Amino acid sequence: MHQDVESIMFSKEQLQTRIAELAAQLDSEYAGKTPLMVGILKGSVMFYADLLRAMTIPVEMDFMAISSYGAGSKSSGEVKLIKDLDRKIEGRDVIVVEDIIDSGYTLSYLKRMLYSRKPSSVKICALLDKYSRRVVPIEADYKGFDCEDEFVIGFGLDYAERYRNLPYIGILKRSVYEK
Ligand code: PRP
Repeated sequence: MHQDVESIMFSKEQLQTRIAELAAQLDSEYAGKTPLMVGILKGSVMFYADLLRAMTIPVEMDFMAISSYGAGSKSSGEVKLIKDLDRKIEGRDVIVVEDIIDSGYTLSYLKRMLYSRKPSSVKICALLDKYSRRVVPIEADYKGFDCEDEFVIGFGLDYAERYRNLPYIGILKRSVYEK
């Protein structure tokens, strides 16, 4: 896999340092509470696992999966729910954990849906923010890094389902997706 990486954007060490900072921030802001950490499959899995292990307050885990309607429809903003939460969130403090915010369609849909279930709060924690690609105005409440508009892979992020298990975030060589 490493030979397909043009350059490393965020190293394993940079990721772990920033994740520890985010975890400390969440620990302090949610002290005395037990937030429900909602991971959005599949991209967030690495970030989710490391973030939760770096936190020291009690948390609960749950997952959702979202998909766009058919090929190329991401730009249309139409998304659908593939896997819902296992439990009710009424009155809960929910933290949505995402790997990346791009257009913002996914999180805007999710936020609307989660709020309709009357939680006490919903906050977004995203590792990467590709702010230049935003179509709908949505911001992360907790953010790891700003990310340039490059084809990023690794640490959960894929190209055709590959590279998710790279321990860093890298830029994919053009030759890989242009061949
Ligand atoms: C990615 C990412 C976010 C979404 C962000 O998921 O994990 O959920 O896209 O894009 P948006 O802001 O334009 O909506 P993807 O659909 O690639 O699925 P995956 O997590 O399984 O890789």
